[in-house]
Amino acid sequence: MSQSDIPYPPHLLVEKPPYRPRVARVGVNRYFELAYHQREVERIWKRAWQWACREEEIPEIGDYMVYEVASLSFIVTRTGVNEFKAYWNSCLHRGRKLCDFAGKRATEFRCMFHGWAWNIDGTLKDMNCGWDFPGTRDEVARLPEARTGVWGGFVFINPDPACEPLAEFLGELPDHFEGAGHDLGRRSKQVHATVHVPANWKIVQEAFLEAWHVSHTHPQIVRSPDYRSVAGNRWDDFGNWMRSAPARPTDQYRAPPGYATSTAETPQDAVDMYWDYHRNEDSPIKVGPGETAGQVIAREIRIAQRKALGDAVEAYHDVHMSTGEMVSVWPNFHPWGGFSRLVYRFRPYQNDPERSIMDVLLMAPWPDDRPRPPPAPPHELGLEDSISEAHELGGLWRIFQQDLGNVAAVQAGLQTSARGYVILSQHNDAPVRKFHDMYDRWMGSDNSDDFIAAEVP
Ligand code: FES
Ligand SMILES: [Fe+2]
Repeated sequence: MSQSDIPYPPHLLVEKPPYRPRVARVGVNRYFELAYHQREVERIWKRAWQWACREEEIPEIGDYMVYEVASLSFIVTRTGVNEFKAYWNSCLHRGRKLCDFAGKRATEFRCMFHGWAWNIDGTLKDMNCGWDFPGTRDEVARLPEARTGVWGGFVFINPDPACEPLAEFLGELPDHFEGAGHDLGRRSKQVHATVHVPANWKIVQEAFLEAWHVSHTHPQIVRSPDYRSVAGNRWDDFGNWMRSAPARPTDQYRAPPGYATSTAETPQDAVDMYWDYHRNEDSPIKVGPGETAGQVIAREIRIAQRKALGDAVEAYHDVHMSTGEMVSVWPNFHPWGGFSRLVYRFRPYQNDPERSIMDVLLMAPWPDDRPRPPPAPPHELGLEDSISEAHELGGLWRIFQQDLGNVAAVQAGLQTSARGYVILSQHNDAPVRKFHDMYDRWMGSDNSDDFIAAEVP
């Protein structure tokens, strides 16, 4: 099939009106005050759908993971071939955590303290010295559960028993992944870095929500004016999630051109930069007469993807090769689209509003005729560690180091802000504004004291 026979991917043609175009101001106290953190636990972390683990991390019945966010902890376990359950990780006797770590093929969750135990379906198995607790057996007959849902091989939990089903919450998201030939359920977890960061989870997430900072923070990846991703992009609002898409000449709602300034002067420079930042080596590719950098890079990515997908790679439009849509799902989950392998998650760490955990995954396709490679275990990097130690990220660690170099300084800067608020732009900061609109809605703020929005005249 030739490229000219392949239609532009329908999911990338879906366009939404600009997200409430305006400039907004956001108070800085939400980034460091304990009261905000405590309210987030009640209003967000106890109510929102959140990605907890991958299906293939718990392949057998009874396998389980421990998922933690702020001070909350949940046991996520497989109870059937396609059934998952999640329990609050707290013994109903005197509250000891039931599981300290992940484990395999459990038949029960037994408390280490006095030995009470529940079956993996959450029903009471053993109430040691139950005679001493008259009238309480019914109260402890079931472990309190969180709701579960699965999308793209990601197991989600929601602690709110009254929540809407995950599929309803995600809306048309699947059309943009499995519907577009990028089923994340058919990817393997090739890399997983779990990075402890000395900044509020919202600050860290915001560093990955917009792309505008690339021109200053990552000048080495701003390639060429003929390369699609710097010619402008769109931010489309799908309700509970937001997506950036490459702008096409016909797009009504794209970024003003030139929002990022190229540091490459020729298509060859752009290709060389691409090689340097992805492969950390000199490019062996020569750009032919009349070729653009975008065409050359797409061609080389297609060659690389062929190793995993075989001839199926020919059915993909070029736009799949050279871009990965940034997708941000409320409140903290970022699966990138296209052939990008990136997935991010951002969580507060314990009850410290100035600390968080960022998970970075690379989700890779693998050939159909081979078994799924085993999921990479998390590589945990503490506050004292550098992300440069995550060699498995390849050249990407340099990008993350530049981003993480900003976030601690943002945390410090916000606490000495004279104005007491930050300003968010109408286009390039749109996903950050959208996040704060969602945040205020979920937090039940009245938008008067801490969030000041001004319409653009
Ligand atoms: S705290 Fe769990 S059995 Fe006592
Ligand atoms: Fe960045």
